[in-house]
Amino acid sequence: MVSIRPGRVIVGGVTLDNHLLLAAGILGTTGASLLRMLTLGAGGVVTKSIGPLPKDGHAGPCLVLLEDGLLNAMGLPNPSKDFVDELAPLANKPVIASIFGSTPEEFATVAGWLAGKVAGFELNLSCPHAEGYGAAIGTDPVLVEACTRAVSRSGVPTWVKLTPNVTDITLIGKAAERGGASAIVAINTVKAMRISTGLRLPVLGNRFGGLSGSAVFPVAIRCVYELYDAVKIPIIGCGGIASADNVVEMMMAGARAVEIGSAVQADATVFEKIKMDLYAKDGVDADGIVGCAHA
Ligand SMILES: Cc1cc2nc3c(=O)[nH]c(=O)nc-3n(C[C@H](O)[C@H](O)[C@H](O)COP(=O)(O)O)c2cc1C
Repeated sequence: MVSIRPGRVIVGGVTLDNHLLLAAGILGTTGASLLRMLTLGAGGVVTKSIGPLPKDGHAGPCLVLLEDGLLNAMGLPNPSKDFVDELAPLANKPVIASIFGSTPEEFATVAGWLAGKVAGFELNLSCPHAEGYGAAIGTDPVLVEACTRAVSRSGVPTWVKLTPNVTDITLIGKAAERGGASAIVAINTVKAMRISTGLRLPVLGNRFGGLSGSAVFPVAIRCVYELYDAVKIPIIGCGGIASADNVVEMMMAGARAVEIGSAVQADATVFEKIKMDLYAKDGVDADGIVGCAHA
């Protein structure tokens, strides 16, 4: 396997301690849990998605463990503006606030509460199970461009997280780029469901949810590969990453950094384990392998 030289990384206007970030919504609901992930080796952390109003989320079951991944329909539970207080112990750390809204104005409002307290924003235009939010907006290039512009005009680095649940992800990536995004994050979960044959009912309270974990890794690789040919801004790969070799494969598809979610849920020490395998002082410069599979 290819080893990479360790060191700080600048991606989409944000300086990270290494190439590995905690993905949104995984153990990132409090300031203490975000800080813990940084001490456990994450190069940066993305918060739980924060919206314009407090939300309880969907009725359970909300999270189901599958053979090769997780199926969730959390429904974007969050404390809204009160989350600002959680950021106090994280001053000057590589923290990205994931935010959502149903209009460009709502995105701008939430960004306004958090500006100056985080290193950047990640716009959740991709959650597949929240009516009026996430992928409901993120499948429309006009709305994606407008929501991105509403936040990027603040001058704070603005990453846009895309849904794979579209026919052509490059159209959405280009819309984010036009709106002034500093980076694209690909992908959020894949819309999915399971049915309990015993109960003869869907297993999730919300019936539909989002699939994550190793089952979606090939989908994420395909999306990053397509986006790399379509946009000039950096891409952050996300979806099913669980090993150093997965990180290298993501980079070869075109990712400059990666986010890890389900694998952290399974093992909070995964960042240190991946770093041990990924980094070596005599390793190659990461920039040398980003997108090399396109040659
Ligand atoms: C329980 C759970 C909660 C999540 N919450 C959010 C969220 O609040 N905002 C968001 O943008 N993505 C959320 N996601 C999606 C993850 O950030 C990530 O995009 C997805 O799980 C794919 O990465 P993975 O396979 O490494 O988990 C969530 C995923 C899971 C499993």
